[in-house]
Amino acid sequence: MPERLDLDAIEAEVRRRNLPIGQPLRWSEQTASTNADAVRAANEGASHGTLFLADWQSAGRGRSGRTWLSPPGENLMMSLVLRPEIPAAQLASITLALGLGVADAVTTFVDPAAVGIKWPNDVHVRSKKIAGILVEGAVSSERCDHVVVGIGLNVSQTEFDPSIAALATSLALEAGSVPTRTEVLLSVLSSLSNRLTGFEEGGLSSMLDDLRARDVTKGRAIRFGSEEGVADGIDAAGRLRVLVGGEVKMLHAGDVKIVP
Ligand code: BTN
Repeated sequence: MPERLDLDAIEAEVRRRNLPIGQPLRWSEQTASTNADAVRAANEGASHGTLFLADWQSAGRGRSGRTWLSPPGENLMMSLVLRPEIPAAQLASITLALGLGVADAVTTFVDPAAVGIKWPNDVHVRSKKIAGILVEGAVSSERCDHVVVGIGLNVSQTEFDPSIAALATSLALEAGSVPTRTEVLLSVLSSLSNRLTGFEEGGLSSMLDDLRARDVTKGRAIRFGSEEGVADGIDAAGRLRVLVGGEVKMLHAGDVKIVP
């Protein structure tokens, strides 16, 4: 029986913790995509911190044009409208800070040593993906007008489509006891708030050590596009350094695959 999100408790706790994100809360039992809803709302002027939550998405969006599938009521599907005071050039690095925030939240429930980040911002537990993040940003002149961060975090799901079963995991499979989606959401909002404040005050360099400590690609053979190389760490601008033959390549964005 899928557990119901406790919307009253979420709103009360966001106020009690004085979180800068998480309200107003827009909940849908079902929608096409919370990211699509949040992008539309952001373009219509939605305020910083507006949260879109759904129990089920009929057209969930993943990175690189993929779809994000999640059974009704089992996992967290959320999108936030953010209006950070940052130059447009920092859009790529805020993506990494947001991934770190989600990873921090996962460490509340899972052995922190088992939690990693696959550049740029997939959250892994013991080499399997537990959360995916899709950041969509809009720029007006040199400033970032808004960022929509969409997060899919697997909470209670224990069975996955055969095509991803070897690659995906959830808190139910990794945590000592399964938290409610309400608890997980509040943890994500708190951790993201901390990382966003840190990012606005000190940029990505202020959290680079934490990010590097979670980097699961470091020293591993990776595939990106049609090329292969060895990942060699993340720089202060959030780029992934890759050794390809005798050459160094810096990746700004995109998807990488760890070669098994
Ligand atoms: C990825 O491909 O890893 C990113 C997946 C992001 C999925 C989330 S679920 C909530 C939000 N709404 C969407 O349509 N996508 C994001």
